Amino acid sequence: MSRLSRLVRTVGNAVGFGDRQRTPPTVIDEPTGRGAPDCEVPELDSRLSGMERVFRAPPLTPELVAAIKLISPHCDFTDSEKYRDIWEADQNGACWGEYEALAPLFRALPRPQRILEIGPGMGRSLVFFSKKLGWENCDLNAFEGTGTSTKYTILGPRFEDSFCGNIPVLRSVLEYNGVRNVNIFDASQMRLGQVPGQFDLIYSFYCIGFHWSLAHFLADLLPRMHERSIALFTVPQEFQPFPAMQGLHHRIIEWKTAWPKDWWLKLLVLSKSPLPK
Ligand SMILES: C[S@@+](CC[C@H](N)C(=O)[O-])C[C@H]1O[C@@H](n2cnc3c(N)ncnc32)[C@H](O)[C@@H]1O
Repeated sequence: MSRLSRLVRTVGNAVGFGDRQRTPPTVIDEPTGRGAPDCEVPELDSRLSGMERVFRAPPLTPELVAAIKLISPHCDFTDSEKYRDIWEADQNGACWGEYEALAPLFRALPRPQRILEIGPGMGRSLVFFSKKLGWENCDLNAFEGTGTSTKYTILGPRFEDSFCGNIPVLRSVLEYNGVRNVNIFDASQMRLGQVPGQFDLIYSFYCIGFHWSLAHFLADLLPRMHERSIALFTVPQEFQPFPAMQGLHHRIIEWKTAWPKDWWLKLLVLSKSPLPK
């Protein structure tokens, strides 16, 4: 089994695709020069990854390559332009899948003014949604931590040492994309439950609700939601509503992933009030 096949299997299992991930990875030949000679790359859904590049990948530096690899172990890249293009396609493809699934909901809701993303990683969704949904003048907030290892499970327990983002790299990616209105709460300085105020929209993609069960975080999140707030979470196929969700309104939306190319996941929408049709 090749290195990437192992990685895809490991990460695929870790990110919730299990043995439903059937597509073999594409192998791209690196002719000469820096980096690994025959790096393999994940095969992406061609429709989603071929759509407009709303999020722009900066030139890959060693710091960015390391941060990408930590957060997305299947992205075993070098700093060449080829991988910059592949990463950009992957990040935009993921955003387009989520955006297509959520667009009817966003259309039915007033534009949120105070927004919190939990675990933004390298910032793809902050950039993409800012630009697509006109969040330029919103109060944008992110909760993230700089880490040195990944602790991915599926619907697992809550760990305080599972952060695998990189706040300086996140800031530089946001800056490269001209998104300058994000306030970052550093998880090494405060716990999630200490984030001040309430938000019209809270969202967390491939993070709370996916790797770590929402059941362990909901008590921290509910005080951050007012009656009409909406919260969105990527959840795996096997997600089931849990008892603490009783009394909340929820909807589950299926969406197509860009990677793995043939799979679907779910998005959980939560609110204290009835959701728009
Ligand atoms: C798989 S990455 C997802 C990154 C980004 N949301 C995306 O979809 O590209 C998981 C994210 O969860 C964050 N994270 C890890 N542990 C966490 C925790 N206990 N609470 C909140 N976020 C956490 C990581 O730092 C990382 O940013």
